Amino acid sequence: MYDESIVEQAIAVHTKTYGTEPTAVAYAPGRIEVLGNHTDYNEGTVLSAAINMGHCFCISASDKPGVRLTAGDLLETTEFDPASDERLPKNLQWANYVKGVMFYLRGQKVENDSVDCTFLGSNPMGAGLSSSAALEVATAFAVLEYTGKTLGKDEIGILAQAAENNFAGCNCGLLDQFSSIYGVHHGLIHSDFRSLETYPVMLPDDVVFLMINPHIKHVLADSPYNERRVSCELAASELDELLGHPVKALRDVSWEEFEANKDKINSEAAQRATHVIGEITRVEQGVKLLAEGGKLIEFGQFLYDSHETSRTAFENSCGELDIVVEAAREAGALGARLSGGGWGGSVVALVHAADADAICEKIVHICKTKGLEPTAEIIIPSAGATVVK
Ligand code: GLA
Repeated sequence: MYDESIVEQAIAVHTKTYGTEPTAVAYAPGRIEVLGNHTDYNEGTVLSAAINMGHCFCISASDKPGVRLTAGDLLETTEFDPASDERLPKNLQWANYVKGVMFYLRGQKVENDSVDCTFLGSNPMGAGLSSSAALEVATAFAVLEYTGKTLGKDEIGILAQAAENNFAGCNCGLLDQFSSIYGVHHGLIHSDFRSLETYPVMLPDDVVFLMINPHIKHVLADSPYNERRVSCELAASELDELLGHPVKALRDVSWEEFEANKDKINSEAAQRATHVIGEITRVEQGVKLLAEGGKLIEFGQFLYDSHETSRTAFENSCGELDIVVEAAREAGALGARLSGGGWGGSVVALVHAADADAICEKIVHICKTKGLEPTAEIIIPSAGATVVK
């Protein structure tokens, strides 16, 4: 299932703007990250879910060279040459995600010149729900459909990541793009970012996730995200010298090995690695807990533990997110943590379905007493990207 209303609205904007209906239309969802923070570029594992909000991308032929692109929410249109690798200026950042994907698709012999395009999303930008990955993936699916070409899903994810790295300036891993592509209805996705294998992890029927957004905008490209990646790589290379086996990435270091060696490496890098190696350990234990069924209290505690090392070791939380997590705890959520890159964005909370509405209200109420004006909603884990037309 995809967000039909956003698809209808995108098609309407496209038809009105260009005077013709789109020939191809695709939809790709945003994601929540459930466990496994900053593990993807450390070749680790993540539990995530595609969500019931996303981006729609429409495309039709034009008789002019280049790409005309309309942002359906802003009702602004810009033009660019898809063969050029130049980034558009910051005020047109929304167009860079599309331009990057089109540029890399051309490298795969997918021609995409002389086209009119429109995108529209229900996935709010800057909320930590990977709206940019949803836009990139929707672009790739629509352009491939329009040109009659095919690429493997992994290739699409890698290409969309390259667009984010080189056109948006964030050295992100593959989590957001893979979640958007491989999402499953009412399930989580376990992704292994070394083998690139993904498999669904089904959730018990009686739990749901809440997404609580305190509305503090974040732009990962302007955050310490890239710096944290460098620290993780430093920790891995120092541990490579110390351990008796090759360490290509933090994925190769067990918790026990890390504990025994952390005092021998750069202290800041060790502090960041504490969070990442802890997260990889929690993901694997968390999958087992879910498979055993009913161990939701323990699983939820992992979410709280994850937030705690985000706050204290990786330092990618902020005051507002900490308030929301504490409010979730007080309101009786099974677990809660920041979801995604951090330094803003949203908190994801795990709750029993029967308590969801009451906990949502309580969280919002507690946050209001602390000066925040968050919105909270129930997230439906959803299927991955699809061609609509
Ligand atoms: C952002 C990035 C992902 C991942 C998460 C943190 O969402 O785009 O690649 O690193 O942060 O886990």
